[in-house]
Amino acid sequence: MAPRLTLLTTGGTIAGQAASAADTVGYTAGTLDPAALVAAVPGLDALAELRCEAVFSIDSKDMTPAHWLHLRERVEHHLAQADCNGVVITHGTDTLEETAFFLHLTCPPGKPVVMTAAMRPATALSADGPMNLYQAVAVAAHPGSADQGVLVVVNGQIFAGADIVKTDTEALDAIAAPGRGPLGATGPIRFFHPPAIDHAGSVAASALAGLGELPRVDILYVAAGSAPDLLAAAVRAGARGLVLALPGNGSLPQAWQDAVAQARTAGVAVVRSTRTGHGRVAHAADRSLPPASGELNPAKARIALMLALACGQPELATALFA
Ligand code: SIN
Repeated sequence: MAPRLTLLTTGGTIAGQAASAADTVGYTAGTLDPAALVAAVPGLDALAELRCEAVFSIDSKDMTPAHWLHLRERVEHHLAQADCNGVVITHGTDTLEETAFFLHLTCPPGKPVVMTAAMRPATALSADGPMNLYQAVAVAAHPGSADQGVLVVVNGQIFAGADIVKTDTEALDAIAAPGRGPLGATGPIRFFHPPAIDHAGSVAASALAGLGELPRVDILYVAAGSAPDLLAAAVRAGARGLVLALPGNGSLPQAWQDAVAQARTAGVAVVRSTRTGHGRVAHAADRSLPPASGELNPAKARIALMLALACGQPELATALFA
């Protein structure tokens, strides 16, 4: 019997439409409903019996922590059904890395959760969405996809959801996992590496129950000569945590040191990350410096800190930044 999967749609370019088939830029994301997405993919019904739910119809630039919490609740709801063998989620590419990381940390590992997206709108010549959706469903239906945490399937590749970043504004292979590479490939489906289950589901559902929002954590991008008064402004606006996107290896400019120390004394959690886009921020021997984000880029370090603050579990952030 074909596996029973639930397709959750959230919008994005994969569900976007433009006035012309040649237009890959001036389009509206998230306009197609699940039935239209499925209808564009011949052969999907041979892979799985699909149930569909439109969770949102938005451009992922408008995704917020409140959306993540709601989406997580829908994923958990469907995974808990005995006749649901896995979940596939369509999403925009712009903030795919954030939603994938959030769901990886907060959804129970076990049944497959596979996200997909597209760089070209559904109306484009050679739209990439239909094949990406086909392959995402095929991966979710594959027995090797269980217990792997959230997976992202795009462009013929299978990624650990926690590893991906968007690396280009236009390229079809914009979603990548720099330094790690894909976990596997499609057509035929095969996995190159062992399961990437690090921290999958490490935030218990009970810790998030009833939450409609996450604590505010801001990212401050520190350029040469950036003024540290940005930091006090963020705290005044209600930030309980700050991620600093710093030059190089999370190097804190001297001009920022007093402001950072004052914020930390006032109970604001501060994390040093890097604006380089790639690489690990090493923990400093100097204990007066804020902790480093390890391999997490600023957007992912922000999510780790938000969850740690929301659950009152500082050890979660420590483990994720290790
Ligand atoms: C979006 O992120 O919703 C729009 C861009 C895309 O999906 O590629």
